[in-house]
Amino acid sequence: MKVDVILGLQWGDEGKGKIVDVFSPRYDIIARFQGGPNAGHTIEFDGKKFVLHTIPSGIFHKKLMNVIGNGVIIDPVILFREIDKLVESGIKPDENLLIANRAHLILPTNRLLDAAFESAKKDAKIGSTLKGIGPTYTDKYARNGIRVGNICYPGFRKMYECLKESHLKTAGTYGFDVSSFTLDGISFAEYEALWFQSIERMKKLKVIDAEVYINKSLNEGRSVLAEGAQGTMLDVDFGSYPFVTSSSTVAAGVCTGLGVSPHNIGKVFGVFKAYCTRVGSGPFPTELIDETGNKLRERGREFGSTTGRPRRCGWLDLPALRYAIMLNGVDSLIMMKADVLNPFEKLSVCTAYKESGKLLSSYPFELSSEGLEPLYTELDGWNTGLDNNITMAELPPALKKYIKFIEDFVELPVDTISIGPDRLQTLQV
Ligand code: GDP
Ligand code: IMO
Ligand code: MG
Repeated sequence: MKVDVILGLQWGDEGKGKIVDVFSPRYDIIARFQGGPNAGHTIEFDGKKFVLHTIPSGIFHKKLMNVIGNGVIIDPVILFREIDKLVESGIKPDENLLIANRAHLILPTNRLLDAAFESAKKDAKIGSTLKGIGPTYTDKYARNGIRVGNICYPGFRKMYECLKESHLKTAGTYGFDVSSFTLDGISFAEYEALWFQSIERMKKLKVIDAEVYINKSLNEGRSVLAEGAQGTMLDVDFGSYPFVTSSSTVAAGVCTGLGVSPHNIGKVFGVFKAYCTRVGSGPFPTELIDETGNKLRERGREFGSTTGRPRRCGWLDLPALRYAIMLNGVDSLIMMKADVLNPFEKLSVCTAYKESGKLLSSYPFELSSEGLEPLYTELDGWNTGLDNNITMAELPPALKKYIKFIEDFVELPVDTISIGPDRLQTLQV
């Protein structure tokens, strides 16, 4: 067996959570491979709505195992908030949740540092979710991090205090002080106490060598689906750097984030919205700062699942999509939120970029370059509602043309179309 992958091809929030939930019954194991609680993955069914930040989106299917892989970073406070919410809804996540002992912990002071670094950037802010992502991955790669497997060590508290002290020193040089710092509306001291209570609770969860578990499962014929967080254009290497996250969001991240060989990567499903959104700062060539952008935001309910911030909206960017497909080796495309475009008479799609008047033949190094201009092709909208029970064959001709235009441009089939947030509002070929 191989590991199939579902990941985002744009700037995150493509609808990965919904699609992982829909595809979950085909798999035995669902595993997150990177990112942390900067992610917000929404799942809707039976009139209920859940937003997951750390827990894989397969958690609603009792028969599956869900793995938080070594490439993920975990804030124990946020993890238990998620677990408690699921328990309130009658779900027992601890029964089918496994955590990699090699996953790193986000300390409260990592969040303090995130705020300090962002604040120092003044006008060049990344627009971080302030969950401590950048500083925690920095600790990991600087070889200073603390891993989940360390929580049972007698010296754990000391490891924590040492790292905290070094964080406080750095924060101090930025003029940041814990005494006046609040986290999610509570004082630093209260958050830290909650963090340690959550660490105690974490000791009762199933913490394992997840890479061994995943490889053994594959060898024994069990199927695995890797769930990406963020999106390809937020990848630390290939995204719109420096306005990116701090992990490898691309398919290659599955190998390091779960401990599987490239030989064991199977199908790669790429998820994209029928238009584009971006939350946080950074270049966004097809952004619409006008009534059309507002209409996309309102119809698509484009407000961050993690921070509630309004998402910037714009037309579909096909050169960016093609670049993302190349980086991930996508086999099959999943187009989300087609319904959001229902009332539009005309739709624009970016098909090329010009820089200083010259047509670019490859994807630009710097999206924010002066003089970079997206070129659009205008297509007819379908300008009609979509019945929930509609089939692929019954889609309005203009929507079929929109899909065909994308398929021809990127030379890949769109095999799944989502026409609403609910599990059931999904069409597949
Ligand atoms: P993720 O981070 O990629 O999992 O995506 P988010 O959950 O952050 O954002 C996607 C949003 O769109 C959520 O509010 C979903 O409930 C919603 N959504 C997903 N698919 C569709 C769809 O086809 N149509 C509409 N209207 N909403 C959708
Ligand atoms: P999901 O998994 C959309 C963005 C932030 C910011 C940048 C860096 O729900 O698609 P970070 O907190 O990682 O330091 O922020 O990345 N960002 C996301 N945008 N969806 C996400 O996750 C995101 N995770 C981070 O807004 O611009
Ligand atoms: Mg999201």
